[in-house]
Amino acid sequence: MVLIELINVKKRVGSEEILKGIDLKVHKGEFLAIIGASGSGKSSLLYIMGLLDFPTEGEVFFKGQQVSSMDSQMVSRIRNESIGFVFQFHYLLPEFTLLENVMIPMLKKGIQRPQAEERARELLKSLGLGGKEKRKIYQVSGGEMQRTAIARALANNPEVILADEPTGNLDSKNTAIVMQILQEINRSGTTVVMVTHELELAKKANRILQMKDGLLVL
Ligand SMILES: Nc1ncnc2c1ncn2[C@@H]1O[C@H](COP(=O)(O)OP(=O)(O)OP(=O)(O)O)[C@@H](O)[C@H]1O
Ligand SMILES: [Mg+2]
Repeated sequence: MVLIELINVKKRVGSEEILKGIDLKVHKGEFLAIIGASGSGKSSLLYIMGLLDFPTEGEVFFKGQQVSSMDSQMVSRIRNESIGFVFQFHYLLPEFTLLENVMIPMLKKGIQRPQAEERARELLKSLGLGGKEKRKIYQVSGGEMQRTAIARALANNPEVILADEPTGNLDSKNTAIVMQILQEINRSGTTVVMVTHELELAKKANRILQMKDGLLVL
């Protein structure tokens, strides 16, 4: 089954075309890595795949449904409930605890507090953060923040995790931990799309695509 499909997607910003016609199918259950040099358009592509941004030309389909035909409520619902995002710069809320950060997507979905808290605790525990739930984001290490971001991305049991340089600012030990977690998530059935500029990390995926100057070249 095709989960996300892009057909001739172009993105223009001012006079510059940063995506120049991308055709891409993400299949349910796969672990796809997208590599490419800095500035080649990887993040821009991921934002469009995650319905955080929209193409200036071309079409995006989520589970066969054309995104441009959806109303904004539906788009936000897919984003919050079906897609989990892990970014290089975490976008976690620094003044909130790890627990609260992981609970937020569930509360947004309408899940009751006690249930949200229980699941958030379980997720944090499974990512090795048991006992640190009540710390604030600024009180944990980069690796722990990244694992919190993964816990948050998993909160609503999404169909796909989109990860943009998820190990970008981590040392080799934490990189290995995060990669292992992403592989486990994928083995348990969740589709994973990971952007990285490191070929060694991309090799952990089932499929590697390369971007160059706004195009997929491989
Ligand atoms: N909002 C924007 N306005 C103008 N230019 C942009 C915008 N977003 C991205 N770009 C440009 O588009 C190109 C692709 O950017 P993008 O962030 O997608 O690259 P990337 O492959 O993710 O790079 P990196 O590996 O450094 O993260 C770059 O030249 C960038 O400067
Ligand atoms: Mg980027």
